[in-house]
Amino acid sequence: MKNDIDEVLISETELKNRVSALAQKLITDYWHKNLTIIGVLNGSLIFLSDLIRQMPFSLKIDTVRANTYTGASTFPNPETEIINNVNVNIKGEHVLVVDDILDTGKTLSEIVRVITKHNPLSIKVCVLLNKTARRAIDIVPDYCCFEIEDKFVVGYGLDFDNRYRNLPFIAVLREDIYHSCL
Ligand code: IMP
Ligand code: MG
Repeated sequence: MKNDIDEVLISETELKNRVSALAQKLITDYWHKNLTIIGVLNGSLIFLSDLIRQMPFSLKIDTVRANTYTGASTFPNPETEIINNVNVNIKGEHVLVVDDILDTGKTLSEIVRVITKHNPLSIKVCVLLNKTARRAIDIVPDYCCFEIEDKFVVGYGLDFDNRYRNLPFIAVLREDIYHSCL
């Protein structure tokens, strides 16, 4: 798997430090508040699990699933599809939507639109990575660990064709790997 990597963009140590700093900020902002964290599957899996284990107060967790890419592609679908809706009651809750990366913005803006219909007290967006180069919708993350340039990245939950999520760092995939799949 590591032979498929062109460059490590964010190391394990950098991830650990930034995620811990973010957890501290969230503890300050949400202490004594009713918080529901909604993770966007599958990409937020690793980030979400590292983050919530550093938040030592009672909170609720739910997930939604969004389909952005079809198969082995690095180009998003024109329409984002939200596959499963929220199951917990978020009326009277502060909601924090957690995803791996904010790219065009279509996925998170659609998820925020759908969740807002359930009347939460507040709704904020938290991402590990912010890639502004391909932004198509006017959305800014409320919380973000790293700004990245316009490169297709994998690892720490992010995939290409559902692989590489288990890499413990963020890396740029060798171009010939994804070109051979297109
Ligand atoms: P958006 O709707 O374009 O903002 O897409 C967000 C989703 O696309 C994220 O939840 C990721 O699953 C996926 N995505 C965007 N950029 C990358 C990338 O560089 N690597 C892997 N997945 C990505
Ligand atoms: Mg995703």
